[in-house]
Amino acid sequence: MKRVLVTGAGGFIGSHLCDLLLERGASIVGVDAFTDSYDPQEKRDRATKLSESADFHLIEADLASIDLDRYLDGVDTVYHLAGRAGVRSSFSDFDKYQSDNIVATRKVIDAIKRCDPSIRLVAASSSSVYGNAPVPFTEGGATEPVSPYGWSKLEAERMIIDAAQDGLSTIALRYFTVYGPRQRPDMGFRKFIKAALANEPIEIYGDGNQSRDFTYVYDIVEATIAAGEVSDSGLVINIGGGSIVTIRHVLSLIEAMLGRPIDVRYGPFAKGDVMHTGADLSLAKRVLSYSPRSSIEEGIGHEFAYFKEVFGDAEVDGGEMEVVR
Ligand SMILES: NC(=O)c1ccc[n+]([C@@H]2O[C@H](COP(=O)([O-])OP(=O)(O)OC[C@H]3O[C@@H](n4cnc5c(N)ncnc54)[C@H](O)[C@@H]3O)[C@@H](O)[C@H]2O)c1
Repeated sequence: MKRVLVTGAGGFIGSHLCDLLLERGASIVGVDAFTDSYDPQEKRDRATKLSESADFHLIEADLASIDLDRYLDGVDTVYHLAGRAGVRSSFSDFDKYQSDNIVATRKVIDAIKRCDPSIRLVAASSSSVYGNAPVPFTEGGATEPVSPYGWSKLEAERMIIDAAQDGLSTIALRYFTVYGPRQRPDMGFRKFIKAALANEPIEIYGDGNQSRDFTYVYDIVEATIAAGEVSDSGLVINIGGGSIVTIRHVLSLIEAMLGRPIDVRYGPFAKGDVMHTGADLSLAKRVLSYSPRSSIEEGIGHEFAYFKEVFGDAEVDGGEMEVVR
């Protein structure tokens, strides 16, 4: 049985990763501090659900201060997904970004070095490291973060790559805007769906013509598991969804699912937001045999159905959509 340690196990992506790892027969030590980046109860509930499996063991601790060494015994792979995500609050809360993204990553690397340098380390980085670089973003191209969040992820990613030069087996994945069931409350799709279901206006930063390479969470976790299974080390790899669409298009899809028009209000662009993102997936294809499987229509359908159940909506009929994860 494969023994893995997942940091950020109670998070949006981390909890999906744990679900799939458990399905594939892994035994998991999940670490999470249930930080205050959003309602900690939401993270705690996901971890509690995972703990129903005898193969999931939860450690509630902050990576910046925990003695991780004793949990690494017998571990084959560490999936390091813990971090403070989100661009906007990084302008005001940088000390927390520094601790959760930079210090925590340093601690994970150092613990692996001390305990067992053969442990494979897969870490979550972000398309935010590219900033406003020309699309499509290639791994060897310029990195020009435009937010403290982007800088903190770039710094963490560099530590992951440097560690490979010191003999560790590491890989960093640059995730592109991830969506799907359990999405974080600060993220666009969830905010849009919640407001649309409640028949409230949707506030958009900017004119809605900004485009993103949206990636369905199931594709992300498949790629993450694949990165734990190959031996290539010292690489950063883009993981995009292959669905590059504008916010306006996303809103039209939600409108179609809702079956009524939604009240959209456009405002100024937010600091730290970039105009376009798009992943060159050649390296992901070559190294991880990765190609995204979920279309934006399917993916939003699953997220819509999931949040419809969570938030409820008497006025929307249907509900035949299958809730996936
Ligand atoms: N969601 C996206 O679109 C996206 C895009 C690019 C990169 N990422 C990266 O993917 C990872 C997961 O993102 P997410 O959207 O699931 O976020 P999330 O906030 O839902 O999950 C992160 C989890 O890490 C935990 N955590 C944070 N700091 C910790 C610490 N010091 N010690 C222990 N646990 C800690 C949090 O409590 C949380 O449960 C993050 O590293 C994020 O930067 C996410």
